[in-house]
Amino acid sequence: MNKTIVSPSILSADFSNFGEAVSLIDDAGAKWLHMDIMDGSFVPNLTFGPPLVSALRGKTKAIFDVHLMVVNPGHFLRDFADAGADIITFHQEAEVHPQKFLEEIHALGLKAGISIAPQTPISVIEEVLPFIDLALIMTVEPGYGGQTLIPECLEKVEKLAKMREKAGLNFRISVDGGINEQTAEKAKKAGADVLVIGSAFFSHPDKRSLVASLQS
Ligand code: DX5
Ligand code: ZN
Repeated sequence: MNKTIVSPSILSADFSNFGEAVSLIDDAGAKWLHMDIMDGSFVPNLTFGPPLVSALRGKTKAIFDVHLMVVNPGHFLRDFADAGADIITFHQEAEVHPQKFLEEIHALGLKAGISIAPQTPISVIEEVLPFIDLALIMTVEPGYGGQTLIPECLEKVEKLAKMREKAGLNFRISVDGGINEQTAEKAKKAGADVLVIGSAFFSHPDKRSLVASLQS
């Protein structure tokens, strides 16, 4: 059984000191670093872009798990790839030709993920499951950290895990939003392999033990 992957989201970090956030993530033993890219259109918030990815790239060996919450993900693909992203995840709701876009991500040598918001059914990504490396199931409305997990979204994780098994596929299932020590257990039981964790990570007094308990 593979260890659960913990992917701390710097959306909840101190925006005046991202370098410190990277050290906190590395020191806590997390192997992935989640970057929530927001354009103020797909979601009503605006965060950061490729310049931050490249500024942090040389500071850590963590896998850069880039989550594009943007209306035109293709517009940014090359810039994020050149900046040092390892995984590019886009929203199914924002891309008319998801399979073509997945191919473009893979053509750049990156891992490709697709994400769906809480109100989007799993059925809309069924056709592209054979082409993804990661499915990111939003467990809050995209846009802000510090929200409460929507329990119904874990039913989607369960459903997706069953579809994956039935189809003999091996993409990872990631959950994003409202993950903490309590909800993480429910998410893992539902079938999540990757836990994106923002506010509960950066507010925790002992990040190392938090990551160790989530990875177990
Ligand atoms: C929402 C963001 C957040 C973030 C995690 O668009 O994607 O879910 O990563 O934030 P927390 O862990 O604070 O809910
Ligand atoms: Zn995210």
